[in-house]
Amino acid sequence: MNKKRIWLMRQAGRYLPEYRKIRKKEPNFLDLCFSPILAADISLQPIKRFDFDFIILFCDILVIPYALNQKVTFKKNHGPLLDPISSIKDLSYKNMNQNINKISPVFETINILNQKKAEKNLIGFCGGVFTVLNYMIEGGTSKTHSKIKSFIKLEKRKALDLIQIILELTIEYLKKQIDHGVDYIQVFESWAGLLDNEEYETFVIEPNKQISKKIREYSPETKIIHFPRGSRKNYIYFLNEVECDVISLDNNYPEELLKIAKEKKIIIQGNLNPLDLVNGGPLLQKKTLEILEKFKDVGHIFNLSHGILPETPIENVEKIVNLVKNYEYT
Ligand code: CP3
Repeated sequence: MNKKRIWLMRQAGRYLPEYRKIRKKEPNFLDLCFSPILAADISLQPIKRFDFDFIILFCDILVIPYALNQKVTFKKNHGPLLDPISSIKDLSYKNMNQNINKISPVFETINILNQKKAEKNLIGFCGGVFTVLNYMIEGGTSKTHSKIKSFIKLEKRKALDLIQIILELTIEYLKKQIDHGVDYIQVFESWAGLLDNEEYETFVIEPNKQISKKIREYSPETKIIHFPRGSRKNYIYFLNEVECDVISLDNNYPEELLKIAKEKKIIIQGNLNPLDLVNGGPLLQKKTLEILEKFKDVGHIFNLSHGILPETPIENVEKIVNLVKNYEYT
């Protein structure tokens, strides 16, 4: 029987003292993403500590707005801040090569990781197009998402024009990541759950379908992971419409999804709640074992239902890695 594989979303990050040490010396987060030697070191930090089965590139989904010449900064204890835009006129995108060149250090990070990855698989990534648009319109993290919700209703044409530009650049960006040696790509559609019905179809299904199609054509051997977080019942719709090798689950999905994934031979990734990993104790063990049992008859990669939280104790991560790696099927 194959061993279960495990990695954690945002596995390189603030819960690691060795990350915080590097971060302290580099006040500008994007500069860190564009420093290949440091970014490669950070990508490998969680592998050295926990021997995870996958390396994920250290970068951020917001390099795409940056490449389009939107101002992007990361404020301490606050998260990203973007100068809000309202149409494609606020961006610069006439020449795709120029946009890609702005973020080309990322490909150098991939080169370094490709030389060091040994038997591990390397995951590249991007934001889902709607999720990236959300940050571009909101200007940062938002509780209500009122701006993006109104924008796609009242300014649909402008929203679709922006979606097209972000989509084209994202596909180019992923192709370049593949050229430089990533084995998997993951699309983080973190805000898919804001939409339903036609809006879900237009802004979530359609762009993700295009990404899968173009990447499959370009590189059939590259594995595609989709994470349309918050999709609830629409997880089924997504799986039926968008081609992928792996579907990443949060904590709210229809049971029927397991059957469909099994039939389509799609691997399930997930889905421990990051708060359970913070809390630890007997409940962490119980939840971890429940997940291992739940997905034992489908292909499964153990992961969280969202990114790891900065307050996560290291020993809890060690605990689940041991549980997963030593798990014997009954
Ligand atoms: O998984 C990994 O370890 C790879 C690196 C990675 C980062 N961001 C590094 C990061 C990945 C895959 C991301 C994805 C990302 N970035 C998403 C999708 C996943 C999700 O969480 O929904 C989103 C929405 C972003 C945008 C973003 N970047 C936000 C909202 C924030 C601030 C809040 C937070 O969680 O820190 C960031 C900053 C960020 N991205 C940090 C890291 C390590 C922390 C920056 C710091 O050191 O201050």
